[in-house]
Amino acid sequence: MADVRIVESEAELFERAAAFVRDHAQKAVDDKRACSVALSGGSTPRQLFELLVSEPWRSTMPWRQMHVFWGDERCVPPDHQDSNYRMARQAMLDHVSIPPVQVHRMAGEHADPAAAAAEYEGDLKSYFDAHGAAPRFDLVLLGMGDDGHTASLFPGTFALAVNDRWVTHNYVEKLSTYRITFTYTLLNAAAAVLFMTAGQNKATALREVLEGESAPLIFPSQGVKPVNGTLTWLIDRAAAQQLSHGPAA
Ligand code: 6PG
Repeated sequence: MADVRIVESEAELFERAAAFVRDHAQKAVDDKRACSVALSGGSTPRQLFELLVSEPWRSTMPWRQMHVFWGDERCVPPDHQDSNYRMARQAMLDHVSIPPVQVHRMAGEHADPAAAAAEYEGDLKSYFDAHGAAPRFDLVLLGMGDDGHTASLFPGTFALAVNDRWVTHNYVEKLSTYRITFTYTLLNAAAAVLFMTAGQNKATALREVLEGESAPLIFPSQGVKPVNGTLTWLIDRAAAQQLSHGPAA
């Protein structure tokens, strides 16, 4: 069952998200001296990253124990303006003290996206093996597109059916491009997943994802259902306006 939290404004959404990230990170570090987090791209996550490097979050986050991964990447070099790695680096990673060896980017520049996905799966395996643990992220941060996609799991695409890999390439016809993305298998193994959704343009897809018939091939965010973890949605008033229990207009 998802924990759906509707807040008044985008500003409140990011404050709540920052507290969520800090609290989950600190708990993971208290329990096992490390926190694995998977980041996403998009403008909503970027605003969270920018907030996390300001006080009081900056000095209360256990940055040195964070192990940072990406839930998806665009097939571009790391200094490209579309790179999710570049975005996170500029908004957050360049401003905090995470040891560089603990930052694991996807090789979006690889000529063969399938090979890049396989390599990233290898990185993940090494990380989780070294920590003596199953592939289970402490925290996965996700945004949702206005078509209901999340990570790079787009409607009707190949990756939605991949269940024997943790990471896969995915051709996204509507963008005429490949992406690299976590599969549902890996997302749904997480200990905690946080979706952040803001803005009126997300309202229709959000209603379908949270209250519509089960149709993950059409609204892929529906397929994110941690098997043995928590699922939290933080939604602002504008995105929640079509929900039956959303705020009054
Ligand atoms: C990406 C993503 C993607 C994103 C959503 C929401 O690489 O684009 O990881 O899943 O999070 O599209 O993006 P916005 O917050 O910009 O709407």
